[in-house]
Amino acid sequence: MAELETLKQELKKINAEYAGIRDVPAEKRAEFGREINARKQEILAKIAAAEKAAMDVDVTPIDITAPTAPNETLPEVYPQSFGSKHPLMQEIDRVTEIYQMMGFDVMESRQLDDEFHMFDSLNFAKEHPARDGYDTFRTEEGLIPPAHTSTMQHRALKKYKHNLDEGKAIAVVIPGRVHRNEDVDATHEHTFYQCEGVYVSENCNMGNMLGILREFFEKYYGQKLNIRTQPGYFPFTEPSLEFMIEKPKTLGGKKGDFLEMLGCGMIHPNVLKMAGIDPTKYHGFAWGGGMDRLVMLKYGLDDVRYFESGNLNFLKEF
Ligand code: DAH
Repeated sequence: MAELETLKQELKKINAEYAGIRDVPAEKRAEFGREINARKQEILAKIAAAEKAAMDVDVTPIDITAPTAPNETLPEVYPQSFGSKHPLMQEIDRVTEIYQMMGFDVMESRQLDDEFHMFDSLNFAKEHPARDGYDTFRTEEGLIPPAHTSTMQHRALKKYKHNLDEGKAIAVVIPGRVHRNEDVDATHEHTFYQCEGVYVSENCNMGNMLGILREFFEKYYGQKLNIRTQPGYFPFTEPSLEFMIEKPKTLGGKKGDFLEMLGCGMIHPNVLKMAGIDPTKYHGFAWGGGMDRLVMLKYGLDDVRYFESGNLNFLKEF
C-alpha cells in the first residue's frame, strides 16, 4: 500500500513537470514531451501492477452456515442455546391472530414516515396545536419516526379501496413500532408498539366498532369484560372515543378500576376523501392503542422499560 502511495506521488510530480512544457523552447518541446511521457507510462504500469497485487490478497472464505453462539465460546457450549422471540413480538402475533380470525387483513407499519402520512392525511390542519400532542423525532432530512400507527391509515385505505368496489369491506390491522419524545419512566417509553385497526363499509356504525373491540379484548384476556367509553378528541375521527376495560379481578383489578386501552372513533370524512373514498357512500371506524400496556396488564408487569432493556433475565421469563 505504501508503495502504491509513493508511485501515485511520483505520477503527480511528473504531471506537474509536464505543465512546464510552456516554458520549453518550441524546437525542444517534442523531445521534452516524449521523455516525460515515457516516464509517465512506466509509472502507470507500476501503479496498475501494485493495484492488482493489492487485490490478490489471500482471503479465507467465511462459512456462513457455521453454528454460532455470539455471547459464548465454541465449542464447549455446542450445541448452543438459541435466542427466542421477544415477548412483545409474541404478543403482536397473538393480537393479529385474533383479528385475522375475525376476518381482518394485516399490514406492517414503517419505522420512518413523512409529514403527509403523520399529519396531513389524518386531517391535522397546518399549524394546529393537536400536532404538538405527537412530539416525536425527526431525521435531518425531515423524515419522522412515526408517533402512532395511524400514519398507515391513508395507505391502508388506498391499498384496500378495491374491496369496496367489489362490495366488500375494508378490514385491516396494522401493528408497528412508534416513537415519542417522552421523559422515560415506569409508564412512559420513547419507543413502544401500537396496533391500529381500520374498517370501512357502506353501512357500518359505532356499535359494530364496540362489538369488534369487546370481542378482541375478551379473546385476548380470555374472559368476559366490562367495557366503557368516554369522549375523546382526534382530528381523524368524528366522533372520537376513548375505550376502557375494567381491570379483571384475576389480574389484580377491583370493581370500578377502568383502564384506558385505546383511542377510536368514526373515520373523519376528510380522511376518507383524501384516500379517494366517497364519504357520502361509505363509513368507517378506526382505533389504535398501545401494545405495551396491553401486554403489561396480561402479565402483571409494573415497568414498561423492561421491554426495550434487553435484560435477559426478563426475556427468559417468557
Ligand atoms: N393514534 C392515536 C394515538 O396514538 C390513537 C387513535 C385514536 C387511533 C383514534 C385511531 C383512532 O385509529 O381512530 O393517540
